[in-house]
Amino acid sequence: MTSLLLTGISELLTNDPIHDGTPIGLLEDAALVIEGRKVAWAGPRLQAPTADAVRDLGGRAVIPGFVDSHSHLVFAGERSAEFAARMAGESYAAGGIRTTVAATRAATDEQLLANVSRLAAEMRRQGTTTLEIKSGYGLSALDEARSLVIAGQFTDETTFLGAHVVPPEYAEDPAGYVDLVTGPMLDAAAPHARWIDVFCERGAFDEDQARRILLAGRGRGLLGRLHANQLGPGPGVRLACELGLAAVDHCTFLDDADVAALASSGTVATLLPGVEFSTRSPYPDARGLLDAGVTVALASDCNPGSCYTSSMPFCVALAVREMRMTPAEAVWAATAGGARALLRDDVGVLAPGKRAHLTVLEAPSYVHLAYRPGVPLVAEVIA
Ligand code: NIG
Ligand code: FE
Repeated sequence: MTSLLLTGISELLTNDPIHDGTPIGLLEDAALVIEGRKVAWAGPRLQAPTADAVRDLGGRAVIPGFVDSHSHLVFAGERSAEFAARMAGESYAAGGIRTTVAATRAATDEQLLANVSRLAAEMRRQGTTTLEIKSGYGLSALDEARSLVIAGQFTDETTFLGAHVVPPEYAEDPAGYVDLVTGPMLDAAAPHARWIDVFCERGAFDEDQARRILLAGRGRGLLGRLHANQLGPGPGVRLACELGLAAVDHCTFLDDADVAALASSGTVATLLPGVEFSTRSPYPDARGLLDAGVTVALASDCNPGSCYTSSMPFCVALAVREMRMTPAEAVWAATAGGARALLRDDVGVLAPGKRAHLTVLEAPSYVHLAYRPGVPLVAEVIA
């Protein structure tokens, strides 16, 4: 196995506290050795071991590749008219999902594949090296299964979201739809998914339905995660903590009991500030969650309705400017936090034995991700 020494790193954010006693494990004037697919060494440049090859990164900052733990990339069409109407004063409603369901059902496999490919490449250019992709715009056994097969061509982190909304043909029989999701649709989806998710929200699925669907998935070996408390207060966050799910996503409308439940559980709160930006809604109280000791992740939620950004740097900038996270907290949440939300210990950290997924910034410091919003700062992705 050949080794590569990367040197000339102005700032190396490792997420390994061993270096500076803080969660982001920051090193200045650093170097890193890659062997095969893994990090072999990280530390001060002057202590770097020799390697088969050397590359000088010219004083750029390096962070772990972003871990985007929440996206909905398998869809057809777009909803810019809905966005424009929202900016003119209309409010976001879960019903818009059905527009994308119709377009997705009508699309060919090739069209869906091309769209995921385009968006995954967009993410990669913006520094994302691990991503999760959900189904949820098929809502039939066949369309959910094919969505997951397509997602699986881009990531192992595939999520079955048959319980996104009740599709029109079941409008009069939501209980029948839950039977479908927990029966034949789960049979078709489970072989192609690692995770199961439910949109637990007024207008989508209630607490009892969500519990039933998550437990059915668990019975088929799927791990649970949840969309909850996005559009208003509700039972979803507490349900996620009760079931010990890896993550509960959105967390926009929380009360004290929700925050206490998160703080005393291992469940990660994944915040998706691109949604609040794109729906002109109040942001989640990231500061309150962090101060209560909750583990916070940041993800894009890239989807054609509530948030059509694929940019983790944009989410970091929003988290800092709008949610009062420090740049260090935000970059940790977008890397190590995302890894926790996906129960992954091989990514999100640049330490010996971890995957060599590096995002090189056209900047001397990781702080520039928030300090220079909207600027394409990713110089190179090494993965
Ligand atoms: O995470 N909340 C539910 N699902 C997506 C939105 C999907 C859509 O509007 O198409 C979300 O925001
Ligand atoms: Fe989502």
